[in-house]
Amino acid sequence: MRIDKLISQYGFGSRKEVKAILKHGVVSVDGEVVTNPQTRVNPETSVVYVGDVLIEYEKYVYVMMNKPAGVISASYDDEETTVCDLLDEKHQWFDLFPVGRLDKDTTGLIILTNDGGFAHRALSPKKHVEKVYLAQVDSELGQKEARAFENGITLDDGYRTMPAGLEILNDKMARVIIKEGKFHQIKRMFEALGVNVIWLKRTAFAGIDLDEGLAPGEFRRLSQDEMNIIVNLLSKD
Ligand code: URA
Repeated sequence: MRIDKLISQYGFGSRKEVKAILKHGVVSVDGEVVTNPQTRVNPETSVVYVGDVLIEYEKYVYVMMNKPAGVISASYDDEETTVCDLLDEKHQWFDLFPVGRLDKDTTGLIILTNDGGFAHRALSPKKHVEKVYLAQVDSELGQKEARAFENGITLDDGYRTMPAGLEILNDKMARVIIKEGKFHQIKRMFEALGVNVIWLKRTAFAGIDLDEGLAPGEFRRLSQDEMNIIVNLLSKD
């Protein structure tokens, strides 16, 4: 890994700023002063100091974002704004990607990480990871719809969903709990019942709740408790 990337990830600023820091001769690798930003280091074993600050390498980073509407769940796109475009400079260095997809108009919790193993497990259909959504719809919901969700719904392509939860909060608003993630799943489940979704917000993923203190577009690192949920998920077969 390049020394300028390692130092930027730690939070010392942009590539340009880090280049200036290096030029000042205040960066050392295993006791030797390093000034070339292209110098390669082994982040796991090299002891790197900027002045008297020891750079602690983080291999895997996990953040939660409150995804705003109008932004796509991808790492990069030529035309559209992506969730990764909303990260700050420091987090741009970690090559994070979103774990799963929310539709462009869906808001709420999305986890971004550079841990491919976690993403793979969290998205595996075998894991039945729970996702919770709030849905506002265009017609009245009742016991008929709740029972249909409970029994599983046959979608437009013939796929029958697993049993899902529909907790009716008021006539046209419900909490939906699903344990799988087919394309446009919730919209298509409602559509099969003749109901249109007006807006959709994910409030929880794998037992991690959206931090309602995050404004749309904001993100933060997962807390220790939230990380424990992830470690648990990774350790289960
Ligand atoms: N179901 C949908 O229809 N859309 C989403 O974004 C997520 C679940």
